[in-house]
Amino acid sequence: MDYLLANTPIEKLESECLIVAIFEENQLSPAAQTLDSLTDGLISNILTRGDIKGKVADTLLINYLPHAAIKRALLVGLGDKNDLSSKKYRKAVAAAANTLKATQIKSADCCLVENQVTGQNLTWNARHIVEAFDAPFYQFNDCKSKPAAKLTLTSISLHSETDAVAIQAGLDQGLAIAQGVALTKHVSDLPGNICTPTYLAEQAIEIAKQHKNLSAEILEEADMQKLGMGSFLSVSRGSRQPAKLITLEYKGADANTQPIVFVGKGLTFDAGGISLKPGAGMDEMKYDMCGSAAVLGALQAAAQLQLPLNIVGIIPSSENMPDGDANKPGDIVTSMAGLTIEILNTDAEGRLILCDALTYAKKFNPDVVIDMATLTGACLVALGRVPSGLLGNDDTLCNDLSAASETALDSVWRLPLWEEYQDQLKSNFADIANIGGRDAGTITAACFLSRFTKDYKWAHLDIAGTAWKSGDAKGATGRPVPLLVQYLLDRANAA
Ligand code: BES
Ligand code: MN
Ligand code: ZN
Repeated sequence: MDYLLANTPIEKLESECLIVAIFEENQLSPAAQTLDSLTDGLISNILTRGDIKGKVADTLLINYLPHAAIKRALLVGLGDKNDLSSKKYRKAVAAAANTLKATQIKSADCCLVENQVTGQNLTWNARHIVEAFDAPFYQFNDCKSKPAAKLTLTSISLHSETDAVAIQAGLDQGLAIAQGVALTKHVSDLPGNICTPTYLAEQAIEIAKQHKNLSAEILEEADMQKLGMGSFLSVSRGSRQPAKLITLEYKGADANTQPIVFVGKGLTFDAGGISLKPGAGMDEMKYDMCGSAAVLGALQAAAQLQLPLNIVGIIPSSENMPDGDANKPGDIVTSMAGLTIEILNTDAEGRLILCDALTYAKKFNPDVVIDMATLTGACLVALGRVPSGLLGNDDTLCNDLSAASETALDSVWRLPLWEEYQDQLKSNFADIANIGGRDAGTITAACFLSRFTKDYKWAHLDIAGTAWKSGDAKGATGRPVPLLVQYLLDRANAA
């Protein structure tokens, strides 16, 4: 989809379809008013008939207008004129996009930027229009012998006669986020037999090639052996696919600026290992690399926006398979940090690969480290599929992420990382066990990671409930790319 900025007054505009807002109680937005006068009161007549009530996300496509230059109009309800929240706005724009998806319209002019959203500015409005329009037009066609019918809509013009600079900024941000999200969804939706650790490494190299100050480095199993990554390598031992440790480095600030480091869990398939998972729904464990895909998407977006920051993305990638050489319950391995780990359940493998990646992160002298991982089923029990779980050892970092999540409409909810929970990880035979029992599974998983992150400010995002959808709408969501990019934008603004 192309996104353009258009400043032609509506009176002089030629358009296949003009998208205008209406409110409850037959109230018109400024653009709707202009269209109303151009069409001898057609819009207000339709509202008086009661065919559209103006509730949030109501839409009505008018296929013919008595005004030759504008062929159609899409009315979009924004609810109560004096109470337009961020979520309502985003929901309404998404409804507009979904309505147009079902038509033959090729390009549309969107007049929704002008509507005041509580607490937000025009840049925010423009950016969320781009994000909301892009999402429903994502298609996964790689593996179908006949691709799904091509979608007709290919271009959206954001209409505003003023504030071009602010709107263009939102457009640029929105496009970078939308393309980061689309990349993340695509890599995540690919099946495990295509998206292997080697494939992820190739993708990182490819993304790095496309941007001048982005570089990729791939460590092989032999390199990791030298670094002493006994925990990470123990997970990979049960797999025919070689593990990879992928590093993407983006340099947008001077060399002595400490980097923001992202670490993403990259289990390209998690069968559970010897602690084998039940069969039902196991296909969804191809999504156990969504954290790593989000790192790729966020780094791509940062490079596209040329943010004045240094950013490092670290992706430990492996499969977790049952095999004669796989980890066995009771095995004890030694991590890169020197801590020994008793593996009581081989299905708690994410933390085993992340702990070595988190130790490796120290070499970049990080300002902050944020990891994202489809880490625990318990996160779904605790928080469902609405927010990602957030835990960390630094209140400022956690608060910054919470604030960014609200701007990005990519929610998080913080869980406590109190020392009382650490006792659940006691092992009789090693320094630490890899599971903490039935209670508070998301917290004890984060407790495990916290043993390896003491030297820097760190936050952990458990995205098990938010990275993909199950059922009829099965597919990756691209979360938490919007949150990560917003955090970067906020940091760039503060710098
Ligand atoms: N990748 C899974 C977590 C997961 C499960 C994410 C379901 C999304 C949906 C992770 O590797 C895992 O298996 N975790 C175990 C940990 C347990 C053995 C302590 C879990 O959550 O059951
Ligand atoms: Mn597992
Ligand atoms: Zn896993």
